[in-house]
Amino acid sequence: MDTINKKKHQIASYIQLDDVSFDEIISLITLPTEMDRGDLSLACFKLAKKLRSSPKDIAEKIANMVMLKQKDVFDQVEAVNGYVNFKFNRITSANLILREVVSNREAYGNSCIGADKTICIDYSSINIAKLMHIGHLSSTVIGGALCKIYNKLGFKTVGINHLGDWGTQFGKLIVAYRLWCEDKNPKGINVSRLTELYVKFHAEAELDPGLNDQARSAFKDLENGDTECVRLFELFKKTTLDDVKEIYNKLHVEFDSYNGESFYNDKMQPVLDELESLGLVKLSDGARVVDLSQYDMPPCLLVRTDGATLYATRDLAAAFYRKKAYDFYKCLYVVAYQQNLHFKQIFKVIELSKKPWYNDLVHVQFGMVSLEDGAMSTRRGNVVLLRDVLDRAVEKSLHVISTKNPSLKDKETTAKIVGVGAVIFFALSNNRIKDTVFSYDKVLSFEGETAPYVQYTNVRALSILRKLNIEIDEYLSAPFTQIELASLSDSESEMLLTLIERFPAILTDVIEKYEPSLLARYILDLAKAFNRFYLENSITNALKHQKRVRVAIVYATHIVIKEGLRLLGIEAPNEM
Ligand code: ARG
Repeated sequence: MDTINKKKHQIASYIQLDDVSFDEIISLITLPTEMDRGDLSLACFKLAKKLRSSPKDIAEKIANMVMLKQKDVFDQVEAVNGYVNFKFNRITSANLILREVVSNREAYGNSCIGADKTICIDYSSINIAKLMHIGHLSSTVIGGALCKIYNKLGFKTVGINHLGDWGTQFGKLIVAYRLWCEDKNPKGINVSRLTELYVKFHAEAELDPGLNDQARSAFKDLENGDTECVRLFELFKKTTLDDVKEIYNKLHVEFDSYNGESFYNDKMQPVLDELESLGLVKLSDGARVVDLSQYDMPPCLLVRTDGATLYATRDLAAAFYRKKAYDFYKCLYVVAYQQNLHFKQIFKVIELSKKPWYNDLVHVQFGMVSLEDGAMSTRRGNVVLLRDVLDRAVEKSLHVISTKNPSLKDKETTAKIVGVGAVIFFALSNNRIKDTVFSYDKVLSFEGETAPYVQYTNVRALSILRKLNIEIDEYLSAPFTQIELASLSDSESEMLLTLIERFPAILTDVIEKYEPSLLARYILDLAKAFNRFYLENSITNALKHQKRVRVAIVYATHIVIKEGLRLLGIEAPNEM
């Protein structure tokens, strides 16, 4: 149990009120938003009815009850406007926090709240034969971060790349490939070439509409399992996946499943039958739909007049399949807000089909990323490729590092960590629903709210520890004395300790709100607090009774920054 939870339990154990259970009290205790209020606050409003008393009176009663019995545990217990604010004894508290981090190291913050629960996370979900562009960045890194954070909290996760690998465009691609590529260059296919073929197909089809018929028939053949068409389709798929895996490695994301749209080809009919038998399907101009007018939504189109199924049909089949295959506790879809309506419709259809788990489906939506010099648009052809953005960020960070630290060894490796980290951190540091503007200079700055700033703070902490020339575990192994702990009473140390203590709570907050930016902002706050601490508290010139606890704080900060960054998919270099 982390120290905040221990403190909550401790508080609850001191409070005896008629008809109010221990767990109920625990549920009313939260972290105060203003840190100087104390470690924890208990809100008494919900107790008013039951206890037939005003929140203010209840708060005062509790404060007196606790203070009377447990003077030594707290520095202050105060009733303010219906809240009771608890400030634990600083010395005991500092000791608990530092011991917790020092003994657990990167396992600090681990928990088992997710034991026996599986979370499906549908993220990145790219389209075959298309290059990854900057629009894929958010889904990929938000999904990746959520996977890692859920894992740390003991959940089992299934990362799913729901590939866009079905649709008439593959008929077009097959025709184009046969006409203009196959003979000339049978081995040297790549994703750019596939995209070019697709563009060329459209241009040529304007002049020769017969091509469209050929494409339709190629797609039919593919659907019917024609070996040659399937072979080409698999080649397009492999080409795209090989290409994209390189980017996934850079971003530190991994998938457990690449079951995309085509995987559901043979899984839609049973779902359609089920919806049909429930009387949910209507015929509308020859198409089969679920009418959602009652819910102020356009109908959910399932089967077109020509018998073709749709994106929505496959998503319905996918949800049913995932429930059966993984029995998920939650299934998240990390997809841009443009698909808001799509997911609302899907979730509604599942609700109407009387599946209680419709409530466990979550659209984790996010805003658009545009580049500083004008919004990106795929249609206009000026796509900003994710690979180019990453490469350029690395190149620029190499330049920055070379000027700041010319003697650094193996600058290239560090530049990769810093450049890629900067791009990831950018995508994760704003509230996900916001539209954001990407700027190389801003994300690579060592001063702003950036990965390099945080990474550099960690490097500072590490260099302090290195200069001491100690074996850290051994150095910190003996218990801290009261005198040592009492030396941490300055406000910078207190602030830093409070933040370090909050790390586990931040992680649960992230998964409750599906919002990794809370962790990114937290790491920034921690880095800032550390830099203020370091400005005020010398380590090398510390007095004997100050040194070890200060070292412990530096070490704990390093652990939390490094682990926090890892959870976001960002590495922390030892030097930079
Ligand atoms: N491939 C889709 C796109 O690029 C995203 C798929 C999201 N996942 C899903 N289950 N619909 O728009």
